[in-house]
Amino acid sequence: MIHVHVEVERSIRNVVGKDYKEKTMKIYTFNESDMKKIMTMNDAIKAVKDAAVSYSNGKTDIPLRANLNVKEYNGNSLYMYGYVPGSNALGVKLVSVYPDNPKLGLSACPATVILEDAKTGIVNAIMDGTYLTRLRTGALSGAATEYLAKKDSKVFALIGTGGQAETQLDAVLAVRDIEVVKVYSRNTDNVKNFIDRVKVGKTQKFVACKSSDEAIDEADIITAVTVSNNPVFDGKKVKKGCHINGVGSYTPEMSEIDEYIVLKASKIIVDTMDGTINETGDFLKPMKKGLFKKEMITGELGELVEGKCKSRENDDEITFFETTGSAVYDLVTGQRVYEIGKDKGIFNTVEL
Ligand SMILES: NC(=O)c1ccc[n+]([C@@H]2O[C@H](COP(=O)([O-])OP(=O)(O)OC[C@H]3O[C@@H](n4cnc5c(N)ncnc54)[C@H](O)[C@@H]3O)[C@@H](O)[C@H]2O)c1
Repeated sequence: MIHVHVEVERSIRNVVGKDYKEKTMKIYTFNESDMKKIMTMNDAIKAVKDAAVSYSNGKTDIPLRANLNVKEYNGNSLYMYGYVPGSNALGVKLVSVYPDNPKLGLSACPATVILEDAKTGIVNAIMDGTYLTRLRTGALSGAATEYLAKKDSKVFALIGTGGQAETQLDAVLAVRDIEVVKVYSRNTDNVKNFIDRVKVGKTQKFVACKSSDEAIDEADIITAVTVSNNPVFDGKKVKKGCHINGVGSYTPEMSEIDEYIVLKASKIIVDTMDGTINETGDFLKPMKKGLFKKEMITGELGELVEGKCKSRENDDEITFFETTGSAVYDLVTGQRVYEIGKDKGIFNTVEL
């Protein structure tokens, strides 16, 4: 559905006393609480699948992320931008990385998404980019899990309880009938607090695990969403038929998935080929040793969705999904938030 940007006319009397019409820009704004009401995890999974298909078919224009170093304040400002004609999504995600911000009680990694009307180039929406990132990143794992995990998966292990973890949990629960959720991260208090917060309203049994061995024992699905530079679980202890999502590693130094899994998985799906093969230590470390090569990747999520690459073929194989993220997922999911939010009447506005 195409939404044309709404403008408000106002009469202005100019300096020579002649009336003319000037149009003010009405911009829709969406905060986290609006976005939670607007979009279900299933809506988000649908949005990232559409984005993935457009991307894999070459129907997107996603330039390389632009980075600015703001060295005076020990900061970096990143601009992830692009255009996805099929979803009418045009815009930019501004993500800043300011490690000193927490000392001021501020987020170290604030993000904002700005969307434009593709027809006019006029800004039509601004939204909380931190929540949008969490939503679309969860949805990416959700989409991959929907295709790759065994249908009767019952036990889910979540490793990492930081900012991204809750939507990762919601996504797996949205696509499989999970009975037991096992949670592990480095800090036991964090695990307990996380479980206390997320279990509200859910019927699953939650288990706080003291080790990753305990967490992955009997797990049908594992999601790693950590900032680790080393594997966060022992790949050899993974149950036959398990599906694994690797979400955290986005630099060559970072890696959270045991090399054993990367080499043993019979299907490896990625969110974008270019991003993952150039960014994640999960691939780059075994590549450096000559053990892993690009050809071992089965395909992109978009190809999986369209049935253009192989998916799980039996209940014994181990499958692996790796994501490093891309503006294509932010913009398409953000555009959906804007469209559904407008339809449902859940938004605020500002005029410029
Ligand atoms: N793939 C994507 O599109 C995407 C999008 C957003 C964020 N991310 C990445 O996901 C990662 C997690 O993000 P976050 O905001 O939740 O981070 P966070 O800092 O809030 O939390 C990190 C979590 O990792 C855990 N952890 C670190 N080392 C561990 C180890 N060895 N074993 C077990 N747990 C360990 C910590 O205890 C913590 O719970 C980051 O690297 C982030 O950049 C990826």
